[in-house]
Amino acid sequence: MSHQTVVILDFGGQYNQLIARRVRECGVYCEVKPYTTPIAELKALRPIGVIFTGGPGSVYDPSAPQADPEIFRLGLPILGICYGCQLLAHSLGGRVTAAQSDTAREYGKTETFFETDCKLFQGLPPESVTWMSHGDYMEQVPAGFRLCAHSTACPNVAIADEARGFYGVQFHPEVNHTAYGTAMLRNFLYEVCGAAGDWTMGDYKKQAILWLREKIGNGKVLLALSGGVDSSVAAALLAEAVGNQLTCVFVDHGLMRLHEGDEVEAAFSQWDIRFVRANAEERFLSRLAGVTEPEAKRKLIGEEFIRVFEAEARKIGKVDYLAQGTIYPDVIESGAGDAAVIKSHHNVGGLPDCVDFREIVEPLRLLFKDEVRQLGRELGLPEYLVSRQPFPGPGLAIRCIGEVTKEKLDMLRQADFIFREEIAQAGLAGTMDQYFAVLTNMRSVGVMGDGRTYDYTLALRSVTTSDFMTADWTRIPYEVLDRVSVRAVNEVPHINRVLYDITSKPPATIEWE
Ligand code: XMP
Repeated sequence: MSHQTVVILDFGGQYNQLIARRVRECGVYCEVKPYTTPIAELKALRPIGVIFTGGPGSVYDPSAPQADPEIFRLGLPILGICYGCQLLAHSLGGRVTAAQSDTAREYGKTETFFETDCKLFQGLPPESVTWMSHGDYMEQVPAGFRLCAHSTACPNVAIADEARGFYGVQFHPEVNHTAYGTAMLRNFLYEVCGAAGDWTMGDYKKQAILWLREKIGNGKVLLALSGGVDSSVAAALLAEAVGNQLTCVFVDHGLMRLHEGDEVEAAFSQWDIRFVRANAEERFLSRLAGVTEPEAKRKLIGEEFIRVFEAEARKIGKVDYLAQGTIYPDVIESGAGDAAVIKSHHNVGGLPDCVDFREIVEPLRLLFKDEVRQLGRELGLPEYLVSRQPFPGPGLAIRCIGEVTKEKLDMLRQADFIFREEIAQAGLAGTMDQYFAVLTNMRSVGVMGDGRTYDYTLALRSVTTSDFMTADWTRIPYEVLDRVSVRAVNEVPHINRVLYDITSKPPATIEWE
């Protein structure tokens, strides 16, 4: 299999995998390489173009990451993004300085004006919103470059040396907030680099299968299967790659939604795979007793999962690999590299230090949620499985605020079921990406019949998102919220108040813990 390749040279920015994902979305194969990769190694990939990512440094700082000057002599088109743009300017004789005032330092959504005769912006409106995040400023652009975009605050938002195919943008075209960002990347790939668009998710599937076969050889693999989209797609991929060596273990930790354990078992028992259900409710609930701090809950659940997998592996005998359906946002939020820990996803930051497997295999680690769904379709998974809303590994434990008890879980399960049922009945399921109930740890006074109550407050949460990295709260019609509220208070003992969460991510996260 040979594809045209674009190299994404990583200078340490936050959004590097998002750039890769956008390039894939445009039908072009790409590889993210550290900026220190030797030129010979980059040349061996025979790239059709190079993208310099953003990064936290300042190009004029002597210790900041630099590009090998040879890269500018390869005759390849280059697109520099944010730091990458400044690096392009700095390396080719321009001058970059710290912005002295707010006039040149820009953060957030910015109205931007484009020269649409520049290949990067051709076919796009002359004015639109971009997402800026830069404190440095290109005071002087290098010889041979022209300015091709500006904002009210900054005259040098984009530069181009079209003869050499060098382009730089101060903003981030890869984030959703840049209105025509993907179209700009597409222009770079197709109009500047001459891409043919020869890469598809079908190719990804073939490559991933080859990679898994090579990695696993004739070893045995245990896959942690939750029945959610990610682990189901990982199961299908592994089944195609090394089916006979695979056992899928579903841990029922007692933190599943109503009827979910039985549904998962019913669905996967029909597959042509070895499927094991490990009932571990007591084990998880006794370890969770008295634990209230969210990170402590997550770590404890992550560890307990592994211990159950180890026990199952001992029954199978000599299992070399533990496979997980980890996806890229799990890795990022658990604090990859220098990024801050937002929450330890049970399968990444929640893993114990010592694990009784030779290696952990994560074939979806660089994919985003919607790419995983696409891959699932490519693997022939049924639509109901592929389009399921995500459910976190730690389950209802992170939706049951404060101490997790069986009684609270049962209340939450029932209320969550009512919410999901009403959403389905209103025909709204397809309009939201994740929706669930949270049992807050707050109790308040109410009146039911003629008596006083002092009971729990339920919160409802629903979000609309494409990548789960950012999300907007869903505008659910009041009538639907009303029905859920009336039913929850009437049908679930000890719930006497219902709230709707109207916070987006950021600043909130999707789950409450
Ligand atoms: P947050 O709450 O970080 O959630 O905005 C983003 C997405 O990730 C899911 N999530 C998890 N999934 N293990 C998982 O498998 C976890 O530990 C975990 N924590 C959050 C969450 O449901 C949402 O879709």
